[in-house]
Amino acid sequence: MIEHTSRQVPKEQIAHQLDCMEQVSRHNALLPEKPLFFCQTFGCQQNEADTERIAGMLAEMGYVRTEDAQEANVIVVNTCAVREHAEKRVFGIMGQYTHIKDTRSDVIICMCGCMVQQEHITEKIKKSYPRVDIVFGTHMLWHFPELLLQRLNGSKRIFAISGDPKGEIAEGLPVQRGAGCHAWLSIMYGCNNFCTYCIVPYVRGRERSRKPEDIEAELRCLVAEGYKDITLLGQNVNSYGKDLGISMDFSDLLARLDAVEGEYRLRFMTSHPKDASEKLFATMAKGKHISHQLHLPFQSGSDAILKRMNRGYTKESYLALIAKAKEYMPDLVLSSDIIVGFPGETEEDFQGTLDVVRQGQYDVLYTFLYSKRSGTPAASMPDSATQEEKQDRFNRLLKTQEGINQQRQDAYQDRELSVLIDGLSNSKDGVYTHCGRTDGGLLVLVRGEDLHIGDFVDVVIEKTSLRALYGSVLGKGYHG
Ligand code: 5AD
Ligand code: SF4
Repeated sequence: MIEHTSRQVPKEQIAHQLDCMEQVSRHNALLPEKPLFFCQTFGCQQNEADTERIAGMLAEMGYVRTEDAQEANVIVVNTCAVREHAEKRVFGIMGQYTHIKDTRSDVIICMCGCMVQQEHITEKIKKSYPRVDIVFGTHMLWHFPELLLQRLNGSKRIFAISGDPKGEIAEGLPVQRGAGCHAWLSIMYGCNNFCTYCIVPYVRGRERSRKPEDIEAELRCLVAEGYKDITLLGQNVNSYGKDLGISMDFSDLLARLDAVEGEYRLRFMTSHPKDASEKLFATMAKGKHISHQLHLPFQSGSDAILKRMNRGYTKESYLALIAKAKEYMPDLVLSSDIIVGFPGETEEDFQGTLDVVRQGQYDVLYTFLYSKRSGTPAASMPDSATQEEKQDRFNRLLKTQEGINQQRQDAYQDRELSVLIDGLSNSKDGVYTHCGRTDGGLLVLVRGEDLHIGDFVDVVIEKTSLRALYGSVLGKGYHG
């Protein structure tokens, strides 16, 4: 019998949060003007999705969103711990926001997310940022109404961090999504992989999957509300369901969701190569709504480094995997993450990475210089390359990919593609008035008559650049 590690937050506790929201809402209703909230998000899509939940709770409590922190009554900064650079930026921003209290002492300043799950960070906030009111970790997100109510009622500054790595799943709380036709849909939280460079498993806890029926119900709502571009989210979606003790893997979930009727596209991220299967590619190829897009981070093209990263695959098995994916989906749009300068990386190791980049022919690459994260195994691994050498490798990687990108973009010249219009473009020529995404997620600037956000259109690509494709509309319509 598999142990069920996914724990749902009990209904009574959700009801308690809803009650706290009601109390804050009543308090706010007595104010002469509606109070304002400002949210800033650092980091990944999971953080963006979390911020949408915080915004949903704030809206429910009577706050109205502002894009100007200076006028906000509540400020929330959702932080990222994946690289040092993001942490430094967060502390810089916190300095600015806490100054707002010089003139408006009643503004409530909150910090949440991955960064504050680390003890040395909370210590620093305690000592050096006395004007931060509420600090809550990733596992405490759903407690936010309760925490805010406490602070409004005059409690001392609050540090709500749970160290329990198992985590919980809270259903039934509000979400405020961004404008437009794109929506995030979290299917699982946490990560069990412990790649040796990565802080995520320590700050987001163990993998826990939402129930398929909850995910499907949310998808149905999103489609009914008019969302057309829906991204399923998880640190490693390919291990979906393992903790649920049900006979459903990620491919089965995808197939079940794909059966939901409507005009929409379904994407997902992130896939770990060690868990991506032929079954997944077959499901994608067969799907009606599933985009032929795959984000498959390889991190390094050296077997020795992959081993030290604890990635669970080799260069050869990775290359075989993407060849298989392209066999099923010749039109696949492929992206990846790469880390340059992992401890002990030699020039030869790096050449392996360049080789994968050349063979993989990615449409999009996210490249990172290794950033030491305290508490991770890689932080104590010996390192020999200098910062200059690492930077030089990084620049060569960018240059290699730039050439590939240009070729790949050029290959779309004169092709007909289905594009979902998702915004107005800021194209200077005034010709390509709208922007949108192809099935694979590529950016297209579009020209045509009578275009509306949310339209599916067929375009022919007229010109290309590194950044975007440019197309004119041939006709409208959704092809599932
Ligand atoms: N240093 C640099 N990049 C990192 N990533 C994760 N941890 C680190 C780190 N310590 C990158 C990986 C991952 C992406 C989300 O961030 O490439 O796939
Ligand atoms: Fe980090 Fe690896 Fe988990 Fe991705 S799979 S979140 S890189 S530990």
